[in-house]
Amino acid sequence: MKKLIIINGPNLNLLGTREPDVYGSLTLVDFLETIKNKYTNIEIDHFQSNIEGELISKIQEVGFDFDGIILNAAAYTHTSVGIGDAVRAIATPVVEVHISNTFAREDFRHQSFIAPHTKGVIVGFGLQSYELAIQSFINDGL
Ligand code: DQA
Repeated sequence: MKKLIIINGPNLNLLGTREPDVYGSLTLVDFLETIKNKYTNIEIDHFQSNIEGELISKIQEVGFDFDGIILNAAAYTHTSVGIGDAVRAIATPVVEVHISNTFAREDFRHQSFIAPHTKGVIVGFGLQSYELAIQSFINDGL
């Protein structure tokens, strides 16, 4: 079975309670359950951390044998050279996703240290951004 992993960065564990007007009211657990039940012929793992180094270690760990990574590095997107370098270093293709439209928000959210090293970026479709990323991997022959 093909293997995808969703990697979520800081504060995304608070989905459902954190700024629901920006990030929606579905919890991460409920959302992941829906996705896993929908795509039963793909193994979809999940990892969330509030710690930059843990995200880098996970990217390194899965980055040579998983078929795809869906990465929402959250605030680290806009600050982390280290996560950008990790994405650049691995063989597994990465799709960067964001729930909110970061380009419609503060200027500091317009920069991504990760995007240049990804296959592509999906921004602003709510939780659907993750599903569009899964579908992009499927469309590309996953
Ligand atoms: C986010 C956008 C980031 O700017 C923000 O820091 C987040 C979430 C999103 O999914 O919309 O925590 O990555």
